[in-house]
Amino acid sequence: MPEIVSSGTIRLARGASATGPNILRQVLSLSMRPGVISFAIGLPATDLFPADDLSRAAADLLARQPGSLQYGEPSQLLKAHIAGLMAQRGVPCTPEQVFLTAGSQQGMDLLAHLLLDPGGQVMIERTVYECANGMLRKFVPEILAVPNDAANGIDLAAVESSLEGGARPAFLYVIPTAHNPLGVSLGLEARRRLAEIARRYELPVIEDDAYGFLGDDGADGAGGEAPAALRSFDDRWVLYLGSFSKILAPSLRVGWGIIPADLLPRLQALKHSMDIDTSTLSQALVAAFLEAGLLPDHLERIRAAYRQRREAALRALAECFPTGARWNRPTGGMFLWVELPPEVDAAELLRTAVEIEHVAFSPGVAFATGGGRHADSCLRLSYANLTPEQIDEGIRRLARAVRRALGQS
Ligand SMILES: Cc1ncc(COP(=O)(O)O)c(C=O)c1O
Repeated sequence: MPEIVSSGTIRLARGASATGPNILRQVLSLSMRPGVISFAIGLPATDLFPADDLSRAAADLLARQPGSLQYGEPSQLLKAHIAGLMAQRGVPCTPEQVFLTAGSQQGMDLLAHLLLDPGGQVMIERTVYECANGMLRKFVPEILAVPNDAANGIDLAAVESSLEGGARPAFLYVIPTAHNPLGVSLGLEARRRLAEIARRYELPVIEDDAYGFLGDDGADGAGGEAPAALRSFDDRWVLYLGSFSKILAPSLRVGWGIIPADLLPRLQALKHSMDIDTSTLSQALVAAFLEAGLLPDHLERIRAAYRQRREAALRALAECFPTGARWNRPTGGMFLWVELPPEVDAAELLRTAVEIEHVAFSPGVAFATGGGRHADSCLRLSYANLTPEQIDEGIRRLARAVRRALGQS
């Protein structure tokens, strides 16, 4: 205990006061209660992490390369492998263009620091990954929220008309592939059009491709590659972010950007001021995993498991959700978006679902840009980290909670 017990209010910076509590953290604590089946947080499958391969690689690294515990230059081997991976997303690039980050969240934060002045204008979808909005809040920006939906993704006509009307945002942040939370992917034509808009209005577009390597299951559920990355349609205005979080393990905190060469030195300086390095050990571990050629089989395993889990969720929804509820068929990724009749308040439903039925989800309000109310009766179901049996049981429980909210027995 300090000898002097002092008091007083510590004044916060404007940006910090704007950040507020993270609603998903509150949801997480509800969903961690024993016995709760949780569709709440976007966790990749714990049972599918390649723990044995990573543990062997770590033991080998620590025995033979103590330098992997040292500060270090970004791993050239890892950059070379990432350049190889990018070819699968239709993006030709050299290892020199790869910028290593501590996950794509850091990538977007760095790019925002690079491009967005405090109080500046920025464009983002109105229903979007909550931590993108959370990241932006500290800039206290002027937000231009673009309509989007689970059927078509971002409304490009709205983007165009806003720019046509004189808006000049510092950037547009978008998730073109396996959108979080809507589960939708933009088709090739829409990608071409968005790249064209970016060029015409000289609009930097941050493409968050966190789910791009998880494939595209298509309407027939057969499984295939996701559409080529937006960056493959423009290599000047599209700034690409990728990540190993969803295809290897999020705790490694390794991601990357493919960024125009002239922006790299400033980005490197910003990154250095923020955290010096992406963990040298994590970089070496990921590089060893890729060098051993283990990624393709691992990807196939997780894609197949996510397809199976998604099918279990779709089956259970069709069997037991009440009429009036609607949901989409996600084309990859880890999320289903469910729209309930407007009289249901999903945040309120969450409380009763956890208390009475022991099932949790993320309420739509968590993903609403600028505190919008448009998603108040929506739910995001994250199915990747549950077995098909848990999914089936969880959706049956949820259906009971929804019926109760609708006043049905
Ligand atoms: C769309 C999107 N971008 C970025 C992230 C964060 O990824 P990372 O772990 O690479 O920082 C997530 C995590 O859920 C996400 O859904």
